[in-house]
Amino acid sequence: MSPVPGLRGVGLLGGGVIGGGWAARFVLNGVDVQVFDPDPDAPRKLDEVLANARRACRRLTMAPLPPEGAVRFVGSAGEAADGVDLVQESAPERLDLKQALLSAAAEAAPASVVIASSTSGLLPSALQSGMSHPERLVVGHPFNPVYLLPLVEVVGGAQTTPAARERAADVYRSVGMRPLVLSTEIDGFVADRLLEALWREALWLVEGSVATVEEIDDAIRFGAGLRWSFMGTFLTYRIAGGEAGMRHFMAQFGPALQWPWSRLVDVPELTDELLDRIVTQSEAQAAGRTVRELEAQRDDALIAVLQGLRSVGVGAGEVLDDYERTLFERAGVGQQELLDGWPLRVVDRIVPTEWVDYNGHTNDSRYLELSSNGVDAFMRFVGIDAAYLASGGSYFTVESHLTFVEQCRAGDAVHVDLTLLDHDEKRMHVFTWIRRGLRGGDGGDGGDGGDGVLLGTAEHLLLHVDAGTGKAAAAAPAVLDALERVRAAHASISRPPAAGRHVGQPRSR
Ligand SMILES: NC(=O)c1ccc[n+]([C@@H]2O[C@H](COP(=O)([O-])OP(=O)(O)OC[C@H]3O[C@@H](n4cnc5c(N)ncnc54)[C@H](O)[C@@H]3O)[C@@H](O)[C@H]2O)c1
Repeated sequence: MSPVPGLRGVGLLGGGVIGGGWAARFVLNGVDVQVFDPDPDAPRKLDEVLANARRACRRLTMAPLPPEGAVRFVGSAGEAADGVDLVQESAPERLDLKQALLSAAAEAAPASVVIASSTSGLLPSALQSGMSHPERLVVGHPFNPVYLLPLVEVVGGAQTTPAARERAADVYRSVGMRPLVLSTEIDGFVADRLLEALWREALWLVEGSVATVEEIDDAIRFGAGLRWSFMGTFLTYRIAGGEAGMRHFMAQFGPALQWPWSRLVDVPELTDELLDRIVTQSEAQAAGRTVRELEAQRDDALIAVLQGLRSVGVGAGEVLDDYERTLFERAGVGQQELLDGWPLRVVDRIVPTEWVDYNGHTNDSRYLELSSNGVDAFMRFVGIDAAYLASGGSYFTVESHLTFVEQCRAGDAVHVDLTLLDHDEKRMHVFTWIRRGLRGGDGGDGGDGGDGVLLGTAEHLLLHVDAGTGKAAAAAPAVLDALERVRAAHASISRPPAAGRHVGQPRSR
């Protein structure tokens, strides 16, 4: 069953760069997809996008990603649209082709199913002409890579209902995206019009030999580009106006708009000479790096930016924060059945680069972080969810002990298994094993085959506290029942030798 409420499955028309990105976005959120793409090579290409996305998403978040949804290739647009809750078209940018695909999907999907197009600029009014129930057609314009960038522009046509736009926006939100619902359709929508303006100007600068492609990219990435990830142009300029604000800024810099700086309407003629210059300079800039290498660098940098923004709670960092909270809530509900089995896997993740010390090894504090995240996950499994916390009850850690067995490095897949050593009404005594490898032992990150080597252990004592009185208090009966279930399921596990160790005690293993 899909962990995303109201989204049993998604039909994808086209499985290229963008269709593959959508597949990854949905599948990694546990949603099944049905893909129609006539290219016989499409499954291989989509697998490659999915592998990149898996790697990226496991680095992006500590939050528990659900078991992956399934990818099924089908033979027609109608089959792709059958039995799903959303159809997302990402075929080549040709109006007639898209109209035919969207109409075929509309014949197969009930009128309640929203049909979205990823088009970068075709108007939804044109796309919906001729299809049945055109009121459910929207443009859902994403950005590459779809599995990392949260923005999706949602645009309706003349016949689209507000309800369809809202439904599409809800679906995108439910898989961690940030829909920007536009009130008006316009060629290129909003984001691509802005990018197009910059692109035209950049081409003029190359054409006039004012700057090379690398110099133009540097002019963005060392300055405005950094700012744009958390503050758009307007807020940035407001600050530039100083205490006097926007009116002062406009008065100061407004007249400059009359100067013949940019040539936004004209485009330089794409002569062979200009194309050769751009291609040659672009080759030099890439310096032999393949597209796959550049994609990996792009994804790693995006993850660093997103995580950085999350730590200050702005822009896309806020979206990531909300998304992670949702993942934790979904995991708490969906993984209750894990309590009756062993091993109780509470964390699966890839060690991020920023965890690594000057010596190339993961800093010891991260072992505690991993184990403590495992305990947090365990608490959600036993019913300490947002509602429970709001009611005033919570467990606080009062003592921890770590052992370090093996080093781990950036990029290693690691997991944490947990057992309950002891508990009573107020106390919970847990033990965790931090091991190499991911859930199912697939490694998942290009080579780490999930060897299960023990990296470290941790032991924690937690006390249940009533936030109202600030004193230790009994946990709720449902939580105590869940703890009993775990004790029963782990009854045959012998007590780990490291349990109860004090610092400096000789190792018994
Ligand atoms: N590339 C981007 O950065 C980007 C960003 C946002 C939106 N878009 C839009 O997404 C759409 C797809 O672009 P892309 O970059 O993924 O292109 P792409 O060429 O990588 O993928 C298109 C896919 O559609 C398949 N296809 C061809 N005919 C088809 C048919 N009749 N039915 C189903 N599939 C068919 C192709 O085999 C290919 O796999 C376009 O509308 C584009 O404007 C692209």
